Amino acid sequence: MSTSLSPGSQKPLLIGVILIVGFCTIFFVYYKPKLSWLPCHGSSENPKIKTCTDICLGALDIANNTKPVDDTVFLVWMYPFGHKHSLTSCHSLFHIEGCHLTDDKNLYNNASGVIFHHRDINYGLQNMPKKPRPPHQRWVWMNAESPSNSGKIAALNNLFNLTANYRQDADVVVPYGKLVKATSDSDFEIPKKNKLVCWVVSNWHPNYARVKYFNELSKYIKVEAYGRHFGRYIDHNDYSSLMSSCKFYLSFENSIHKDYITEKLYNALRLGSVPVVLGPPRENYEQHIPGEAFIHVNDFPSAKELAERLQFLDKNEEQYRQYFTWHKHFDVKLSLFGLEHACRACDYVRRNQGYKVFTNLNTWYWG
Ligand SMILES: *[C@@H]1O[C@H](CO)[C@@H](O)[C@H](O)[C@H]1NC(C)=O
Ligand SMILES: *[C@@H]1O[C@H](CO)[C@@H](O)[C@H](O)[C@H]1NC(C)=O
Ligand SMILES: *[C@@H]1O[C@H](CO)[C@@H](O)[C@H](O)[C@H]1NC(C)=O
Repeated sequence: MSTSLSPGSQKPLLIGVILIVGFCTIFFVYYKPKLSWLPCHGSSENPKIKTCTDICLGALDIANNTKPVDDTVFLVWMYPFGHKHSLTSCHSLFHIEGCHLTDDKNLYNNASGVIFHHRDINYGLQNMPKKPRPPHQRWVWMNAESPSNSGKIAALNNLFNLTANYRQDADVVVPYGKLVKATSDSDFEIPKKNKLVCWVVSNWHPNYARVKYFNELSKYIKVEAYGRHFGRYIDHNDYSSLMSSCKFYLSFENSIHKDYITEKLYNALRLGSVPVVLGPPRENYEQHIPGEAFIHVNDFPSAKELAERLQFLDKNEEQYRQYFTWHKHFDVKLSLFGLEHACRACDYVRRNQGYKVFTNLNTWYWG
């Protein structure tokens, strides 16, 4: 009969060990026990910090093998300005789980949320859904353009449930950029400079406040200006090195509205140029970035005094350096137009399942 059971053999012991190890592996992989007996604390005090279970499962590399559950279908009705974006990156880019983004209009009735890009909506609403809205479904109005750059559409007034916008009082807030905790504590080095003041302008209009200010400023200081109006084009690849090589950059917004602070500011910050801003009041900027990180045109009675200040800073290295102290603590993170709106809106819809309507969109946005 079986020789393995003969007395004196080591085999039964070995088989026993294999069985126990096997059982434990299956138990840990499939039952994911809460390892609350481990000496970790914190989950009860602050559920937001990594709980014991997360840490322990992470250590066992189980956490990453469990796929996030895609339970919320979220429909991107139109790609902003027709530019397709990923539908699968909410998890990897924003750590947002449970969202199944789709552009398949056949899933309209499955969708918990549908997002619409304002500038792509026809005035007569011809390209909006024709089918009735399922009772649970929320419609999200998305816009990243300022009111001056988006046309008001009367019929949109009572149509949406949520807003996704750069404004701080939107339901889903997606600013153009933000400062996040610095990832490394190595000292920031100010890039080498060979220009004093620079400006890259795509949209030149003599009536724009920024154009009037520029014309005035250039009477007192040389501004290296680029863009179609100046017949000086810069290649996309040269943009970063150009920005870095300027001591100051004119982060002038095309229109002036609360919270409308665009990549013109965040790119200058990111690329090591000191932004000179024209936009909403200083107080509004300081709700987004530290007061010592920028110069506001309103800090000076006129363009002449601003020019004098820039010339002074050009000669005073120590004072100029002060504009970079925030780099010790923060990094700049630009948002991802379109994709980030969809992911964050889906996350909102997933977490807030209640009834909500947004009336008076037009008054809210266009005043
Ligand atoms: C899980 O994945 C994230 C990002 O993909 C990574 O930072 C983390 O270290 C991974 N955890 C484990 C336990 O492998
Ligand atoms: C959409 O809903 C239909 C009908 O309820 C269902 O059969 C289908 O599996 C759903 N599709 C998705 C992707 O959720
Ligand atoms: C969404 O808004 C519309 C229009 O105001 C409203 O009819 C609908 O009941 C709302 N749905 C939810 C789930 O809040």
